[in-house]
Amino acid sequence: MASMKEQTVVITGASSGIGEELAVALAARGARVVLAARDEVALHRVRERCERAGGRALVVPTDVGEPEACRLLVARALEVFGGIDALVNNAGVTMRGFFEEVTDLSLFERLMRVNYLGSVYCTHHALPHLKARRGLLVAVSSLTGKCGVPGRSGYAATKHAMQGFFDSLRIELRGSGVDVLVVCPGFVATPIRARALGPDGTVGHGDIFEVKGKRIMDAATCAALILRAMERRERELLMIPVPRVMLALRALLPGVVDRIASRMMEPKQR
Ligand SMILES: NC(=O)c1ccc[n+]([C@@H]2O[C@H](COP(=O)([O-])OP(=O)(O)OC[C@H]3O[C@@H](n4cnc5c(N)ncnc54)[C@H](OP(=O)(O)O)[C@@H]3O)[C@@H](O)[C@H]2O)c1
Repeated sequence: MASMKEQTVVITGASSGIGEELAVALAARGARVVLAARDEVALHRVRERCERAGGRALVVPTDVGEPEACRLLVARALEVFGGIDALVNNAGVTMRGFFEEVTDLSLFERLMRVNYLGSVYCTHHALPHLKARRGLLVAVSSLTGKCGVPGRSGYAATKHAMQGFFDSLRIELRGSGVDVLVVCPGFVATPIRARALGPDGTVGHGDIFEVKGKRIMDAATCAALILRAMERRERELLMIPVPRVMLALRALLPGVVDRIASRMMEPKQR
């Protein structure tokens, strides 16, 4: 198992939810964490938590949808900590709404820009430095990166894109010493659903789905699982057992998998 002590880890989407809890967990292991997101006030709150947990933390306000901001994020991490051992591409935004209800098509571009292109930009700039340290690339995808789900078409597309990109990169990096971990959480209790972009491209209309209590994992547990997979340098982390069965079933009975995916998302209204 690789120790995270004294390792420099850049985390995008560190101002909230899974990214925040992962930053604090890494700091508690003695890592130096570089905290990236847009909300600077929230990032400083997370920095204080990381420092109280025993690690060093650097705040770098970043919009991952901007290629230049991603370059500057990597440059700042190098300037302050001298190298990068891991990059966690975690920043993400989701949507709610059926495709036929969408009135603002720029929604699809915005989702792709943050979830997929943001990961590509950060990875591009960090990769030479990760190679120098035989480091680790982490992509926080989703189970929607493995199969389609209703009401999240644009989001699922971004996560499929991430999955394809990082699976390809893993093969290209074989022998380089850089490992690639793709993480697929299930339902995690974070503000992501409350911040979902609606069919008109605006935020703040709540979700159209109910997620039943016992299917929701808390963010700290999710972060602990990611941290363990990072230490073990695993290639993939699927967080709930059902999908493994679903994925195995998919080649044989794709219609059954569609029905299971549909039932996992229980609409409040349609
Ligand atoms: N929660 C779940 O059930 C679940 C399930 C599967 C996968 N995931 C994935 O887990 C990751 C983390 O999500 P979460 O659940 O922890 O949600 P969250 O609490 O809403 O966190 C999302 C993070 O992404 C950041 N972000 C959004 N747009 C950004 C941008 N343009 N540039 C930089 N940062 C940006 C947000 O910070 P700012 O607003 O400050 O920029 C925030 O820190 C996402 O990739 C999500 O798709 C979540």
